[in-house]
Amino acid sequence: MISTKLKNAIRDIPDFPKPGIIFKDITPILKDAGLCSEVIEAFVLEMKGDKIDVIAGIESRGFLFGLMLANRLQIPFVPIRKQGKLPAKTIQEPCELEYGSAILELHQDALIAGQRVMIHDDLLATGGTVSAATRLVQKIGGVVAGYSFVISLDFLNGKEKLRGDSENIITLAS
Ligand code: PRP
Ligand code: MG
Repeated sequence: MISTKLKNAIRDIPDFPKPGIIFKDITPILKDAGLCSEVIEAFVLEMKGDKIDVIAGIESRGFLFGLMLANRLQIPFVPIRKQGKLPAKTIQEPCELEYGSAILELHQDALIAGQRVMIHDDLLATGGTVSAATRLVQKIGGVVAGYSFVISLDFLNGKEKLRGDSENIITLAS
């Protein structure tokens, strides 16, 4: 259960990035250190002591709370990035986005086989992005032990794409 203040800090921006899309803007949360802490503590509470070895955050907005959460848990953070950004050897996966398509990459040596990974992003929409992230983690031997999102657009049914890989899907707002 998140506070009304936190819920209200997620603002709707109509017609961004294109007409008909209502963009969920989390930048008001980032301006308030107390709300950032509330987000992180809400994730920790929902994780209920799950054994998670690594947080994998998805570029770019998944980096914001993903790194904070990993640091709070004192576990590693690994970035999943858009094509051409990671400097060492990578593996790639294509993904379909809400508006367009992209290729995501992960460093080949980001994980040790068998590590339990929580994939984090700011927002779950269609689930295309996080499905590609799931395949990347699994390709290098990681176990997807859960997902965490600040916001889930439930009407897009993204959760249905993820349940086959992990039922542990944490969302704070919809
Ligand atoms: C948005 C959002 C998620 C993804 C969700 O990122 O931050 O990563 O889309 O959409 P999906 O569930 O339909 O795949 P975006 O690609 O806009 O990039 P950004 O995080 O770099 O702003
Ligand atoms: Mg994103």
